[in-house]
Amino acid sequence: MSSELSVDHLLGIKYLKPEDIELIFKTADHFKEVINRPIKKVPSLRDITIANLFFENSTRTRLSFELAEKRLSADVINFSAASSSVKKGETLIDTVNNILSMKVDMVVMRHPNPGAGIFLSKHVNASIINAGDGAHEHPTQALLDSYSIRERLGEVKGKKVVIVGDILHSRVALSNIFALKLQGAQVKVCGPKTLLPKHIESLGVEVETNLKAALEWCDVANMLRVQNERMDISYFPSTREYVKQFGLNKKLLESLNKEIVIMHPGPINRGVEITSDIADSEHAIILDQVQNGVAIRMAVIYLLASKIKQ
Ligand code: CP
Repeated sequence: MSSELSVDHLLGIKYLKPEDIELIFKTADHFKEVINRPIKKVPSLRDITIANLFFENSTRTRLSFELAEKRLSADVINFSAASSSVKKGETLIDTVNNILSMKVDMVVMRHPNPGAGIFLSKHVNASIINAGDGAHEHPTQALLDSYSIRERLGEVKGKKVVIVGDILHSRVALSNIFALKLQGAQVKVCGPKTLLPKHIESLGVEVETNLKAALEWCDVANMLRVQNERMDISYFPSTREYVKQFGLNKKLLESLNKEIVIMHPGPINRGVEITSDIADSEHAIILDQVQNGVAIRMAVIYLLASKIKQ
């Protein structure tokens, strides 16, 4: 196995090779052990400064990147667009170049525009990590999702994973499809036809519009949030109708002839894509996903920083 990533930035899973994912997981295994020790910090990145730039709201991603950076002993600065000079009209490039002039080595960025991280990587001299760009990619989410499947089921290869819900607006879906396919999993998507992108099959996934059939098939169901904030029109008749056809509840889960693992990237719309009794049950690994996010982000930052130091 290679000891370094094939990329200088993490802009999307699309740019990774299977060996990169394997290396990230092995490195995350080490950091997971570190963060379970009484002293949860390592001095690895004492000479690295990282800026977290969030142009969109976040709880899990923002906090776990910050924690991962601090566990690695990096210096950290945080920027939130809502309280910045972006509100006075400053551009993305000017904002980032001003931050980089303070000798920042790495930028973690969440932005509403697809491709914002790719754009930045071509214009600034720093390692860029995409923390979610519009409806495009959310690579560290897909890595922590696959890592959590590996932890629960032993491996990802050969596993049957269904991604349910609002596939059209979901960067989590696209990054998960790329990551799962790279690792040899079988993938189906399931949701209302209006929320399934045209030609999604060209990514090597199958489409299933019947939730019960999809659940009978799968080992893992990843229940996505309905992204109302990205919808300018109605994609289904009503929330009640959506819940009836694509919501996961205890009765439906108990009607299956098997046990399945339930995932959700968060934030959950409780009672819409999943009911509380399922979200909080032993079938769900939702909080394991969040916990694994810290180790995965430590691994990604550490591996990219090793390339800066060379
Ligand atoms: N899963 C995820 O990206 O959550 P946040 O938007 O809270 O970061």
